[in-house]
Amino acid sequence: LRGPGENPAAAVLARAARVVATVVGGRSADDALAASGEGSRLAAVRAIALGTVRWYLRLEPAIDSLLERPRGLAPEIHALLLAAAHQMEYSRVAPELTVHTAVDAARALRQPRAAALVNAVLRRLLAGRQALFARLDAELATRTAHPRWLVEKLSQAWPERLGTILEANNLHPPMVLRLNPRRRSAKQYLADLAGAGIAASLVEWGERARPHGVPWPVGVRLERPVPVAGLPGFSEGWVSVQDAAAQLAAPLVDAAPGMRVLDACAAPGGKAAHLLESAPGPIELTAIDIDARRLERLEESLARLGLPASCRAADIRDPQSFWDGKPFERVLVDAPCSGTGVIRRHPDIKLLRRPTDIPVLARNQLAILEAAFGLLAPGGRLVYCTCSALPEENEGVVARFLERQRQARPASAPAGEALAPGALERNPGTQLLCGGAAGTDGFYYACIEKTTTGT
Ligand SMILES: C[S@@+](CC[C@H](N)C(=O)[O-])C[C@H]1O[C@@H](n2cnc3c(N)ncnc32)[C@H](O)[C@@H]1O
Repeated sequence: LRGPGENPAAAVLARAARVVATVVGGRSADDALAASGEGSRLAAVRAIALGTVRWYLRLEPAIDSLLERPRGLAPEIHALLLAAAHQMEYSRVAPELTVHTAVDAARALRQPRAAALVNAVLRRLLAGRQALFARLDAELATRTAHPRWLVEKLSQAWPERLGTILEANNLHPPMVLRLNPRRRSAKQYLADLAGAGIAASLVEWGERARPHGVPWPVGVRLERPVPVAGLPGFSEGWVSVQDAAAQLAAPLVDAAPGMRVLDACAAPGGKAAHLLESAPGPIELTAIDIDARRLERLEESLARLGLPASCRAADIRDPQSFWDGKPFERVLVDAPCSGTGVIRRHPDIKLLRRPTDIPVLARNQLAILEAAFGLLAPGGRLVYCTCSALPEENEGVVARFLERQRQARPASAPAGEALAPGALERNPGTQLLCGGAAGTDGFYYACIEKTTTGT
């Protein structure tokens, strides 16, 4: 038997298959990749695994139609067949070569008896794949590799944009940086990038959300993703990686110097860091998150950027556990959500989410919003956001909240097109959709203020 060391491509494919099987078993792709070990081939493993996960719901019915008992297969062999089918369908590798590599990968997975089956199934796919996919692609959900329930929900919410959203969800996302112009001007940084051979341009619409005309923030879109270690000034804190839609939170919060600001769901800390970087003077930021491990990432990121905040592992729904009783003038609620706006970055969402998750998430979002609002000073502003494309988690939550809270009302803030190109004004709030004119992830924002009267 040949070992994985003798065929590097097979070793990579086998590792990717393990990652895919782990995701199908219910773990996130980030966790599965982290558990798959380090090494120079991690980037290749990642590319194959994420590509297979992205197209899983199209590839699976094709492979399963060629198997007598798909459920009888070892999960890693099933995942290997899908990873090989992904290479045949979506890469430039010669399909014949993929068959050989997959057979070796079955051995590398210590399943030598599966090698013959892998060979037979992939050869049948090779012979008949055009007709097979033509038949399967008749259904939109399969053609775009999305779960049917999600296609239904998106079609109800955004009938005219459905095709664009589904297509954009399957594209590779751009790498966007948030520049800290206190450390480096946009012009200087573009020159730094050019000097490092990294092609990039400014997110030119970024100025729209600036309430005080402050030249902030400055999004920089790279033509091709690069490892962060290769970015000029990354370890010195000149830049952070953050999609342009997420860069709208801080300007909407609009914190002034000296304000007490709460980031109620703060980890891993992109928006907390931005709040600190973008305030025109020092603010007093309390950053809490229920997940102590994720909070460590926030602390690391603030240390890299040299930014001060009081960080606490706490549940926002239990304010007694962290609150000193002094109200906050600004609150950001970046609520835990389905992530259906960021599928292009996290294709595993298509496999991991269930339709029953959505009402559970919405109930929790409302509870978090209500608890956070309780800590807001009269006259203060709260920004609620999610990276969900589903109204149930967005305006559905905020509308219910506004009905119940007599001291809450929509705050005046840039909305719709005034916030970002193609952004949709909702009642209440603004929705950015993946595939929209701004080229961002899908995001929802609502700005709420607490009146000084009413109970
Ligand atoms: C969308 S993420 C926040 C991302 C973060 N704002 C950023 O920009 O990096 C939502 C976060 O809410 C946290 N969370 C969930 N339920 C919570 C609760 N009841 N109290 C506080 N944090 C909570 C999760 O652990 C998760 O880190």
